[in-house]
Amino acid sequence: MSSAPVGLLDSGIGGLSVWREVTRLLPHEHTVYYADSAYCPYGPKTREEIIARVVHITNFLLTKQAKLIVVACNTATAAAIDYLREQYNKTLFVGMEPAVKPAALLSKSGVVGVLATQGTFNGRLYHETVERFAANTTVIEQYGDGLVELIEAGKIDTPEMDALLHKYINPMLEAGADHIALGCTHYSFLIPAIRKITENKAELLDPAPAVAQQVKHLLVQNNLIDTETTKPKYEFFSDEKPFQFNEQLTMNNE
Ligand code: DGL
Repeated sequence: MSSAPVGLLDSGIGGLSVWREVTRLLPHEHTVYYADSAYCPYGPKTREEIIARVVHITNFLLTKQAKLIVVACNTATAAAIDYLREQYNKTLFVGMEPAVKPAALLSKSGVVGVLATQGTFNGRLYHETVERFAANTTVIEQYGDGLVELIEAGKIDTPEMDALLHKYINPMLEAGADHIALGCTHYSFLIPAIRKITENKAELLDPAPAVAQQVKHLLVQNNLIDTETTKPKYEFFSDEKPFQFNEQLTMNNE
């Protein structure tokens, strides 16, 4: 069982930013990644629609013997993680949420920004985190409308993207935000572009490294860690068909 793969899912290529952290931290693990490209974006979809997709993908990943499934998507986590844990109670799941807690704890100005999808802001998890950890912090919430579509189309370094990012990030900076939580796995690919706008005035927080740590923790705890495989197999599926991805894309935010 320890030689079974770690499964990861997202609405598209965003979760590859999490895949990168998982494979760096756990270099002996096989992985199987599923991009639900035909149904991307998840952000504006209803909870029921997202649950239906995520159940479909979970079943697919389980046919690939996934020993743990990373819901490498904030929107899908917000909509479906409780449902998944209830319905698949023998499967290990790791979900993700915007790093509002560290943003609020680290903030000196008392103002933080959160850039996420509508679905993530609508989730119970997000509201609970804000109430618990950011009650005394001003949290500026911004939907990243249009960003996922541009990223999926490979239009990262474009005037269109730049205009949207200025529109979303400038009001956060003007309000004094010193930390910005990136609440969508796709946005990791925008880190260099956002840094050009923030010019060191605000720290960007990406939860992907913490998610990889949680994957490791659960594998160790359940005796599922692979220490032997030297040449791990990395499989990528989009709408059930294998795909190749451009490694360059995931590496451009070093
Ligand atoms: N990458 C996803 C997230 O983390 C989903 C974005 C979308 O499909 O709208 O929220």
